[in-house]
Amino acid sequence: MRFQARWRAALAAMCVLTLAAPAAAQTVKIGFITVTTGANATSGEHMERGWRLYMKQHEKDLPPGVRIEMIVRDAGGPNPDKAKQLAQELIVRDKVQLLTGVLFTPNALAIAPLTAEAKVPLVIMNAGTSVITTRSPYIARLSFTLWQSSLPMGTWAAKKFKTAYVAVSDFGPGHDAEAAFTKGFTEGGGKIVGNVRTPLQNPDFAPYMQRVKDAKPDALFVFIPAGKQATAIMKAFGDLGLKQAGIQLIGPGDITTDEELPNMGDVPLGVLTVFHYSSAGDRPANKAFVGAWKKEYGASSNPSFFAVGGWDGMDAIFHVVREQKGKIDPDKTMELLKRYKNPNSPRGPISIDPETRDIVQNEYLREVRRVGGELANVELETVATALKDPWKELQKK
Ligand code: PHB
Repeated sequence: MRFQARWRAALAAMCVLTLAAPAAAQTVKIGFITVTTGANATSGEHMERGWRLYMKQHEKDLPPGVRIEMIVRDAGGPNPDKAKQLAQELIVRDKVQLLTGVLFTPNALAIAPLTAEAKVPLVIMNAGTSVITTRSPYIARLSFTLWQSSLPMGTWAAKKFKTAYVAVSDFGPGHDAEAAFTKGFTEGGGKIVGNVRTPLQNPDFAPYMQRVKDAKPDALFVFIPAGKQATAIMKAFGDLGLKQAGIQLIGPGDITTDEELPNMGDVPLGVLTVFHYSSAGDRPANKAFVGAWKKEYGASSNPSFFAVGGWDGMDAIFHVVREQKGKIDPDKTMELLKRYKNPNSPRGPISIDPETRDIVQNEYLREVRRVGGELANVELETVATALKDPWKELQKK
């Protein structure tokens, strides 16, 4: 009898233990809003491969019992209605504690109010229009702004060229790139001799390139969303003989995006860009990142800035998950993101500006050269160190 009682007590204790075990485990649910289909699928793939590689390397660093569950959703392209619907479902139905990803500015702008209403922090891995982070106190950006690349590009170009033509994709980041480059270039004494905005969806670049050729500028500054459009505009630039006409192609690094360089032929050789990331960067952290990437995804694949956005975004997410031991509080999360720093990102040192929740990073002048048989964005000099988003700095004045 006594034996039976003890046995029952032991059994009861075991039940408590087995019941308690799942309660101690903490799953952080995160909604990853991306693009996996259509013309921009490769960009989305790079962003996802970036954070997946990070997860694979660092999952072991999460506190015991804490795990991250990523729910992947495809907005299909720049599609604000779809993005908003996906964010709503992720918040209400899937009960995610964080949102991340977001390739396109129109999608980020559509999601922004929901992050504030529902108090669900959003870690942006790509979308680069400056205004985005002002639309909700629950957004932090780990990617870039177009002002960060295009303003220093304008300042630098004014020292080399007298005239420039500006061609940008007709949406948020294009408008920012245009304004930023124009400011840097004209304040440095350069003259803008022409200006055009190309459609965001399915543009035919040939007629625009003809117009540019006829205007005979010293330089052509271009922004288009990286991916297939970069290759298409490079082709039109080559086919219409702008290079032979002596027009120097310049822009933010979106136009010579690393993953598309192998598809562009020789046209990009000599193209000059300013940007925060090149897979050819020779920082040790980048060498390690590129090495791990090639091991995971193939020797001929190079990570793009989308990939490093995914990687760094995930590093920031790991930081907030670790610091809170998996129990995500939205306001605590934002405080942690505001103080986030990584001296050793593949792109160089990065941090978040606590005032604006936007990324602070270096910008490099690069030239496309042939390195070991393949084209690469070779970093020539650091044109800006620990640069805050210039648009927000100008708003303060
Ligand atoms: C954006 O929508 O903000 C965006 C998209 C593609 C880029 C850069 C920015 O290459």
